[in-house]
Amino acid sequence: MTLGGPACYERNENSPNPEVQLASITASHGSHGPASPMTAGRSAPLHGSLKPPGDKSISHRALILGLLATGQTPIEGLLEGDDVLRTASACRALGAKVERLGDGRWLVEGAGLGSLLEPTDVLDFGNAGTGTRLMMGVVGGHAITATFDGDASLRKRPMRRILDPLVLMGVEVLSETPGGRCPIVIKGTAEPAPIEYRSPVPSAQLKSAILLAGLNSPGRTVVIETEASRDHTEKMLSYFGAQVHVETEGTHGRRITLEGRPKLTPRAVIVPADPSSAAFPLVAALLVPGSDVTIEAMMMNPLRIGLLTTLIEMGAQIEVINPRIEGGEDVADLRVRHSQLHGVDVPAERAPAMIDEYPVLAVAAAFAKGETRMRGLAELRVKESDRLEAVAAGLAVNGVEHTIEGDDLIVRGNTTVAGGGTVETHLDHRIAMSFLVMGLAAQKPVTIDDSAMIATSFPTFRPALERLGATFG
Ligand code: S3P
Repeated sequence: MTLGGPACYERNENSPNPEVQLASITASHGSHGPASPMTAGRSAPLHGSLKPPGDKSISHRALILGLLATGQTPIEGLLEGDDVLRTASACRALGAKVERLGDGRWLVEGAGLGSLLEPTDVLDFGNAGTGTRLMMGVVGGHAITATFDGDASLRKRPMRRILDPLVLMGVEVLSETPGGRCPIVIKGTAEPAPIEYRSPVPSAQLKSAILLAGLNSPGRTVVIETEASRDHTEKMLSYFGAQVHVETEGTHGRRITLEGRPKLTPRAVIVPADPSSAAFPLVAALLVPGSDVTIEAMMMNPLRIGLLTTLIEMGAQIEVINPRIEGGEDVADLRVRHSQLHGVDVPAERAPAMIDEYPVLAVAAAFAKGETRMRGLAELRVKESDRLEAVAAGLAVNGVEHTIEGDDLIVRGNTTVAGGGTVETHLDHRIAMSFLVMGLAAQKPVTIDDSAMIATSFPTFRPALERLGATFG
């Protein structure tokens, strides 16, 4: 059975006409159906165990490496969220066969590095910045033209950070919306120039786009980051047979060197549970009095668990059980019990290891005794929403004292949080889930204006938390 993703593409050898495409999509994209508000009310103790869905970052990369390898890549535990299904559709448009098997595994039959097809239609990534940016790298390393677009949130996100290095590699930007925004049309090159690029922002998406474009380069591609970001692309490229060397750079950075034109051999991928999704039931269990919850098989990659470190510093009772390696990643079960948290100072250099977790950390901080200062959050302004402003507004309508000082967020916690507010989610799944978690422990229910985007990363969020005892209306 072949699952149709959210967008349908057909193979075609003819070049798309960028102007015609842009004119036809501008009117129709950028919105989704009617909003579906959701409310979370004060909950009884949460009990039981929960296995969070597959990691979103690894799911995107497994599909993409499957597209670039020649042969069949089976994937177990793929996140079947909207963001990832969009990447599956884009892989089909570029020439892969992508199927969901009867046992829930996915199978990608790759087109092979250097042999991608030109898509006949717009690559519509919906809400997904990761899919868009990684695929810009993939297309950039092939002599094909493609149009990238998505919803209203994606259209606000900066893409120049990706286009600039790709242009150095020989990619042409045929069309872009002012400010380097989508829709964007790029023409890739079959001979990407080998570059050494010092990343101006700590971004795994940027690093990955360059490495993926560099795959088809006749030379070496080097990316230097001053703060190490998640390393799933490097790990998976090595796993599929590419030569990747990783060295430390300065105090917190890395220098990654990729030898071009590897033979990519398909490998079976097992996707571990997503720590960024686990963060929501985990914080809920800490905040709802009497709770005792086990999170199963959570990925413990050191570049992804800054939240865990921070919560433990705040006094969270979290027991790490049965640490092990599954599918090439560290995983463990976590027993989480209700805890009285206290405020801490979260250093800026920890941000890349917990970049998606600040909204839910801000909620945890609202219930902590004393002040929590989260430093160096500039990158939060360019996520699915301006998360710094969205979090601040959500705290404000629910009676939580806080300030933004430059790029720092300071939350003055209180063991009781008033709640009672309606939070604007701005098409941002993590804002939505974070404030629902707040509602489970606040004095009065918390409402979010729209829950639709939760399906991008954690489609089973509601039933999974309800099974633990959470109350949603
Ligand atoms: C991701 C990297 C991060 C993160 C995003 C997923 C990835 O973005 O926020 O949700 O899979 O590479 P940046 O690279 O922009 O920090």
